[in-house]
Amino acid sequence: MKVLIINGSPRIGGNCSRLISEMEGVFKSEGVEHEVYQIGSSAIRGCMACGYCHTHGECVFKNDDVNALAAKFAESDGLVVVSPVYYASANGSLISLLDRMFYSSHTDTRMKVGAAFAVARRAGSTATFDELNKYFTINQMPIASGRYWNNGFGREKGQVESDSEGIQNARITARNMVFLMRSIALGREKYGLPETEETVFTNFVR
Ligand SMILES: Cc1cc2nc3c(=O)[nH]c(=O)nc-3n(C[C@H](O)[C@H](O)[C@H](O)COP(=O)(O)O)c2cc1C
Repeated sequence: MKVLIINGSPRIGGNCSRLISEMEGVFKSEGVEHEVYQIGSSAIRGCMACGYCHTHGECVFKNDDVNALAAKFAESDGLVVVSPVYYASANGSLISLLDRMFYSSHTDTRMKVGAAFAVARRAGSTATFDELNKYFTINQMPIASGRYWNNGFGREKGQVESDSEGIQNARITARNMVFLMRSIALGREKYGLPETEETVFTNFVR
């Protein structure tokens, strides 16, 4: 059982990292393999809709970590995405990464479990939480939730430590995620994955 954790903060040792460490504690005690990738200060450009990935199954841009992460995601049972809130939205580099990773990869994402967290000083956290969850719900990925919308609060590095409810919620979400991944593994063994259908692809221009 493997979980890939993407930390969308450029700040090393920031508040997103603190929440992630709480989730890691749970994964460790439950024997779930996990790996954290932090965006840090690396440049991650946005999708340019070139369509290269339609035929190649990977992104045309090879000078950042997107393709490598897509490969790690393919091998994972779960994906955690944590972002700082920037202007009531997720960090821009993280959005570029997620757009390109999900769009370019031909991985079967069905029943991989997703969990998201947004960390803010004051506002925009639920909008960011919704934004992140949308990557899961367009990809047939069940969501592990917590006891509140997954937010943490703090401005300066480490301030989220005082948000004991947010910190506790990170542990609860991680435990629920482990339970879901294990249950899905059992279900997959007994019933197999749900049947798929040929994609019907419509838009609003007719
Ligand atoms: C460019 C920028 C925009 C921000 N916008 C918001 C915002 O809209 N709402 C908010 O509550 N905090 C905002 N913040 C504060 C961060 O979300 C907050 O400091 C958070 O703890 C950062 O997480 P980190 O330590 O993991 O990087 C912003 C910070 C930056 C640098």
